[in-house]
Amino acid sequence: MKPKVYITRKIPKEVVKQIAEVCNVRMWEEEDIPVPRHVLEKELAESDGLYCLLTENIDRDLLDKSPRLKVISNMAVGYNNIDIKTASQRGIMVTNTPGVLAQTTADLTFALLMATARRLVESSDFLRKGEWKTWSPMLLTGQDVYGSTLGIIGLGQIGELVAQRAKGFEMHVLYHNRSRKLEAEEKKGIQYTDMETLLKESDFVCILTPFTSETRHLIGRKELSLMKNTAVLINTARGGIVDEAALYDALKKKEIWAAGLDVFEQEPVAIDHPLLTLSNVVTLPHIGSASFHTRMQMAQLAAENLLAALLGDIPKTLVNESVISK
Ligand code: GLV
Repeated sequence: MKPKVYITRKIPKEVVKQIAEVCNVRMWEEEDIPVPRHVLEKELAESDGLYCLLTENIDRDLLDKSPRLKVISNMAVGYNNIDIKTASQRGIMVTNTPGVLAQTTADLTFALLMATARRLVESSDFLRKGEWKTWSPMLLTGQDVYGSTLGIIGLGQIGELVAQRAKGFEMHVLYHNRSRKLEAEEKKGIQYTDMETLLKESDFVCILTPFTSETRHLIGRKELSLMKNTAVLINTARGGIVDEAALYDALKKKEIWAAGLDVFEQEPVAIDHPLLTLSNVVTLPHIGSASFHTRMQMAQLAAENLLAALLGDIPKTLVNESVISK
């Protein structure tokens, strides 16, 4: 009997084919709509494996209704959408896709930083609206990136790659992380600081930490008030790390200069969200890892992980190693 697998969104055909060689595959075929909860519940009642995205909330209630589930393969590096504790208690392997997306996400983080600093979106809109009358000395002036200070909150793979890019722009790089990374400090010429110093001294603050109960609203009113009023906040991690109401107020009151956001507390962000009314905010629809090559690599790694778990092997990028000893 082939194991039963449910895939929650259309993924590349060749990847589906690879899974279907060893599994009975069912898939949610809509591209623009996430699988409704009742459909997911029904499918998981009979599935041995789940291949899902960050849009699916895999909570305790759902796991209660998934008696056969052996593996949850998340096609994302972040796995805050999954109740890891409950999954682990039940011996369900959870896997993610780190590594393959790090360079692409570091590129996007840097692109967003530059776009926000130099007001690229606002400038493009200005031109298209026919407002460009003449070259003018102070027209659409922004912040310099080269030679400025970058503060990275969360020095994982992506954080290190952002630091590397920053060095090409002669930036002074500070970081804050749960643990110090001495090798990275030496190799990349970056400096560890406490959070307060990082916020006070950085011209650009980049959030690249995982979203957990400890990092929820890590950046709130107090933290924003410590930042320079010329500073730019960049978030390409998870929306919930920033208190959006506090961010809106800080931007409105010019306590900080601008923000570049690829992620939001609620996604997709409501079109009437107050942050979207501000011209000093650059917003993107969670596209950090969205390059053709990287999305293919993520889809493949997620498939490899799923199949390894179902065939009795240890998946390459297992999140909850504690399940192996069970
Ligand atoms: C995207 O946000 C991811 O976690 O891969």
